[in-house]
Amino acid sequence: MKVIIDGHEIEVEPGTTILQAARMMGGPSVPPAMCYYSKLEDTGGNCRACLVEVSKGSDADERPMPKLMASCKTTVMDGMEVKNLSSPRVMEARKAVTEFLLINHPLDCPVCDQAGECDLQNLSYQHGKELTRFKEEKRTFEPENIGDKIQLHMNRCILCYRCVKTAEQITDGRVHGVCGRGDHAQISTYITAAIDNDFSGNVIDVCPVGALTDKTFRFKSRVWFNKPFNAHRDCDKCCGKTTLWMFGDEIQRVTARKDVYHEVEEFICNECRFDHKDTADWVVEGPRKFEKFSVINQNNYTRKLDTVVIDTEKQILKGRDQDRVKISMTNVPFKEEESKK
Ligand code: SF4
Ligand code: FES
Repeated sequence: MKVIIDGHEIEVEPGTTILQAARMMGGPSVPPAMCYYSKLEDTGGNCRACLVEVSKGSDADERPMPKLMASCKTTVMDGMEVKNLSSPRVMEARKAVTEFLLINHPLDCPVCDQAGECDLQNLSYQHGKELTRFKEEKRTFEPENIGDKIQLHMNRCILCYRCVKTAEQITDGRVHGVCGRGDHAQISTYITAAIDNDFSGNVIDVCPVGALTDKTFRFKSRVWFNKPFNAHRDCDKCCGKTTLWMFGDEIQRVTARKDVYHEVEEFICNECRFDHKDTADWVVEGPRKFEKFSVINQNNYTRKLDTVVIDTEKQILKGRDQDRVKISMTNVPFKEEESKK
């Protein structure tokens, strides 16, 4: 069947959602998604970031849908016409949703490990307001320890349910979920049991914000100082295909490979993620080509790497000479022209 999104027409199979159709088309008309995750079943419908206007229901019934619709949950009809970027109503609603998601979210991006690859940060850059109207106290939670590999920072959670679905569908036994309702709803492990099964680390990758982060990478580096490389190893638990986040020759973090919509291509096991931080364990395929929403994309690292001496413990790193200014070493003066290269 045929659907028109922001004036562009595409043919899709019956049962396709508006968001899926938009992703098939690609480009700027794809609505943002903070809770839908195509690699998991039964996600979406929680965040409302993907609202669109259906200006024509179908060829059979041309009436527009009166309310904005969640594109991740609305299936297309033949002849449907959808407005995303071209609808001022949608843009206004998206601003409101962003403001709403930020009501309780702490603005601690400068110290959050997710900064630079956070979907909420990106959404705020595009649709956020500069000033807050929220005068009440933000909702806060007592820190909770959910094991030695995964850091839960509940204050940052936007209750998208992705991690719950991941644990339900990818791991053998889910030991965490959303406890409580409304303002008191929180991701928690029942009886504070640690999440320790082979695939639990995937909750880190699916979390759109910094509520679940990698404890082994905590505060080690800002993600834009790392160079991501695709790598693989023989693994009997998962596909073994990962992204290594390198600083010089050091592997600081291992994650699953993510696609253009920031979703993992294939889930990986905890052994690949946490236990292999030596380059000898991996076959490095080469640098990752793109990270659509990441600031890393701004930092072109595909040019020749030199061995440069900069002021670190080991005194030597592989990188470009101009990286020195970006890493803000104290004894190297910042040169405006170089930073633009
Ligand atoms: S912890 Fe992250 S993935 Fe889980 S519900 Fe909260 S925001 Fe979503
Ligand atoms: S992505 Fe559609 S409601 Fe969250």
